[in-house]
Amino acid sequence: MGSAEEKLETVESKEWYISAYASDGVPTSDHLKLRSASVSLAIDSIPDHHVAVETLWISIDPYLRATMTGTNDGLYFPQFNLNQAILAFGIARVIRSKDSKYSDGDIVLSAFLPVAEYSLLPCDLLTRKLDPASGIPFPDYLSSLGIPGFAAWVGIEILGQPKSGSNVFVSAAAGGVGMFAGQLAKLRGCKVVGSTGSDDK
Ligand SMILES: NC(=O)c1ccc[n+]([C@@H]2O[C@H](COP(=O)([O-])OP(=O)(O)OC[C@H]3O[C@@H](n4cnc5c(N)ncnc54)[C@H](OP(=O)(O)O)[C@@H]3O)[C@@H](O)[C@H]2O)c1
Repeated sequence: MGSAEEKLETVESKEWYISAYASDGVPTSDHLKLRSASVSLAIDSIPDHHVAVETLWISIDPYLRATMTGTNDGLYFPQFNLNQAILAFGIARVIRSKDSKYSDGDIVLSAFLPVAEYSLLPCDLLTRKLDPASGIPFPDYLSSLGIPGFAAWVGIEILGQPKSGSNVFVSAAAGGVGMFAGQLAKLRGCKVVGSTGSDDK
């Protein structure tokens, strides 16, 4: 996009939404569908304390499955609302802001980012701003510095606490969590053995 004056007032935004819950098995195209929706970016159509954002990265994590069954399990996030865009951990760029804490161009992290190209978000769903000067690649905030890295850290550093020189076995070692669990165990001086579903992994 160009200057503020050149910005489109309305954009067509592709988004993934859930049209039916999948009570068991793998959700398919019967449950998850792609559509195009018009999103007004006009400053007057953005409610107070909301921002208009352009999605940059989305993290597709296993917990999302539990939000598509139609039954709240009390463990994870609530069920997605039918016919609304699904939500995920993601990183977005603020295009327009109606909140004094956020400005055009800010890069923000949210645990409830619509899986859509553009969206309007209440600022209380923004976890934090990311600092481009930190030198940390933004996607790292969704992986090693995000929930997968945190889950691995809890497993190794809080629950497992393996001693240096001991053996650590990591299943799904090429997965989002497993790859960090193995590295954390190695940093503690452990011998790490991982299993994966294929030689390529
Ligand atoms: N991602 C997170 O932020 C997060 C947070 C908290 C907890 N968790 C939990 O941590 C676990 C791993 O998450 P992840 O994000 O690393 O998942 P992932 O990247 O999607 O990896 C999942 C891997 O698990 C393996 N797998 C699938 N079915 C299996 C089975 N029946 N027996 C053994 N391995 C199987 C497969 O690896 P192979 O093809 O190599 O076998 C698959 O690629 C999940 O149980 C998840 O719910 C994840």
